[in-house]
Parts: sequence; structure tokens; C-alpha cells
Amino acid sequence: MPLSILFNVMKILGIETSCDETAAAIVEDGFNLISNVVATSMDEHAKYGGIVPEIAARSHIESIIPVIDQCLYESKLDWGDLDGIAVTYGAGLGGSLLVGVETAKALSISKNLPLYPINHVEGHVYANFIMKSDVENIKPADNQPEFPMLALIVSGGHSQIVIFRNHFDYTLLGQTGDDAVGEAFDKVAKLLGLPYPGGPNIEIAAKDGDPDKYKLPKAKLDGKYDFSFSGLKTAVLRLAQAEVDKSYDFPSFELSALLSATQKADIAASFLKTSIETLVDKMVIAEKEFSPKTIVVAGGVAANQELRKQLRNRLHAKLQYPDIKLCTDNGAMIATLGCYKAMLNTTPVNPYKLQINPNLSM
Ligand code: KG4
Ligand code: ZN
Repeated sequence: MPLSILFNVMKILGIETSCDETAAAIVEDGFNLISNVVATSMDEHAKYGGIVPEIAARSHIESIIPVIDQCLYESKLDWGDLDGIAVTYGAGLGGSLLVGVETAKALSISKNLPLYPINHVEGHVYANFIMKSDVENIKPADNQPEFPMLALIVSGGHSQIVIFRNHFDYTLLGQTGDDAVGEAFDKVAKLLGLPYPGGPNIEIAAKDGDPDKYKLPKAKLDGKYDFSFSGLKTAVLRLAQAEVDKSYDFPSFELSALLSATQKADIAASFLKTSIETLVDKMVIAEKEFSPKTIVVAGGVAANQELRKQLRNRLHAKLQYPDIKLCTDNGAMIATLGCYKAMLNTTPVNPYKLQINPNLSM
């Protein structure tokens, strides 16, 4: 049952600027998405093969006010209709986080609205709680997740498994000790000469490839739920060098010109299969240990179809993913978690005191 049935109507503006998306959304009662606006500086970063923090921060400064204005305009609401502001204060790029947080602080003070600081990674999970959408091209979930809820959070910055016993009551079971899975996708894509962001482009390239052509390693770690993707990434580099008869010191950026289209597709397919299997292997163990009612997947890599297929085939609990547009960074997930903070009477932060925390963990 949505909490709103027990509480007063609550409308929260969510602001997200942790990486390259400038985003704002308004969510009502933790399940109803009223408006959602995302501006991205992706095109500017793509030519450099990854996010350039300085470009991201500058782009946030230019976009933040128009994005919030547009979000309010599309919601047909006024400032006086809102009950609070939620903003991502970590983890993320320092310069990017500052833009969202300082804007949210100024708005909280000037509009006299309570301010809720949000952990970006926790926010990703809450995209799964959106059950109604007034935003045309976003399809909401049929039901809200139930607790205990097992979450796989996979993005460009994170690969984590978290068990939620209830709202705000969770334990981080494991995480990557080096590269995040999305980062590994981005780096392997770069090596294959595919554009940034790597995830969707690896998926496309892999369609023409043989996933069993190359045997790639899965890291063996002490932590039952921990990940490591840097070894896999290096194995792909060594494989590509060997395929074109070059030694270990041959530069990675020269490989894509020498690899054939078939070799690239087979490498993409083999990497895709192994990286996704690595994630799903751990989820199978976690499901056995914690018997969750719902399993949710969140973060940019949740858009991956191979991940969805393997989870569907190997897990038993009810599986939920956000709409693909809510898998990557957005304000809706931040506003949704902000609603729960407000509805469950979490004390808002003093807007004069809120600081960013680029290294914030779960
Ligand atoms: O959550 P997100 O938008 O930003 C972070 O917080 O990192 O995730 C971005 C990451 C990128 O590494 C991108 O390559 C990956 O998500 N990604 C995908 C797919 N779509 C985006 N990875 C695999 N398959 C996809 N379809
Ligand atoms: Zn993210």
C-alpha cells in the first residue's frame, strides 16, 4: 500500500547533478511522477571518450535554472504547491554536485521549503517505486517493491548489492573493489573503438558476435558479494592484443583500427556475457541467503537486456526494473526518495549547513 494513503499528500522537487545529467522532477507521495526534465552534456563528453568534470560542471551551471523552470512549468504547479526539495549531495563529481546542492540550498531558503539531502546510489533504487506517471513517455511499475528487497545497483560509478529490510534500513552486502561494471563497459567500448557511453554500444556490437568465442575470467574474491572488474577489462585488452599479434605493450588506442568487425563483435559478446554472469552469480547467492520478496535493479547498467534476461532466468523472487529512461541519472528517483524522507518524518537538513560529499557511500 503506498504510504500516501496513511499520510498527507506530499509533493517533492528532486534535483540531480552528480555527473553529466542536469535533472529535476516532481513526485507526489513517493509513487506519482508529475514531471521529469533531464538535460545532458553527453554529446560534449562523447568526443573525449568519457566524462570531463570541468565540462560537466559548466554545463550544469548553464542548465540548472532552465531545467527546474521547465520541470515546474510541465507540472502545472507553483512553488507554493511543493512540500520540500530533495537534492543529491553525493556520491559524484565535486564540481557537478556543488551546482545542484547550492541551487537547492538557495531555493530551500528563498521558498521556505524543507531540504532533504539524498545519497545518489540509494536514489537509484527508488526509481523502482514510481507506480504512476503523468509523464507521457515514462511507463511506471505495476506495483511497488516489497520488503525485504534485494537491490543490484549497477552504474558507471557503482556495482553494489544491498539488502533493504525497510525504507532507510539497509545493509551493503558487497561492492566492487576497483572498476564499476558500467566503467568496464565504457573502457572496453573505447578499446573496441565504440563511442561513449559504452554500455548500449557494447550491447549493439555484441548482437553480431559469438558470446562463447573467447573464455574470459571471473574474479575470485574473499568477500562473498564483492566484485572486481579491472581484471576482466585487462583480460579483454590482452585478448585484443593477442588477436592482432601484438605484444603486451602495444597501445590500447591503436587496437580498434586493427581488429576486424567479427573480432570486435565476438569480443563485445564474450565480455558482455562474462560481466553480466559475474553480477548474476552473486545475486543468485544473495537470493538464497536473504529470501527477498522483491529484487530490484537500478543504475545505468539496469538498462542492459542481457542482464535482464539472465536475472529472469536464474532468480525466483519478483523482479523489477525502472523504465529505461529512469535507469540512468534523473531527478525522479531523487524526488521519490525525498518523498519517503518527508513522509516518514526524517528531519530536514539546515540549508545553510548542507555540504557535498563526493565520496559518500551507502
Ligand atoms: O547511472 P548512470 O547513468 O550514471 C552513473 O551514476 O554512473 O550510469 C551510466 C553507466 C555508463 O557506464 C553506461 O555505459 C552504462 O551505465 N549503461 C549501460 C547501458 N546503458 C547505460 N551499460 C550496459 N548496458 C546498457 N544498455
Ligand atoms: Zn547514477
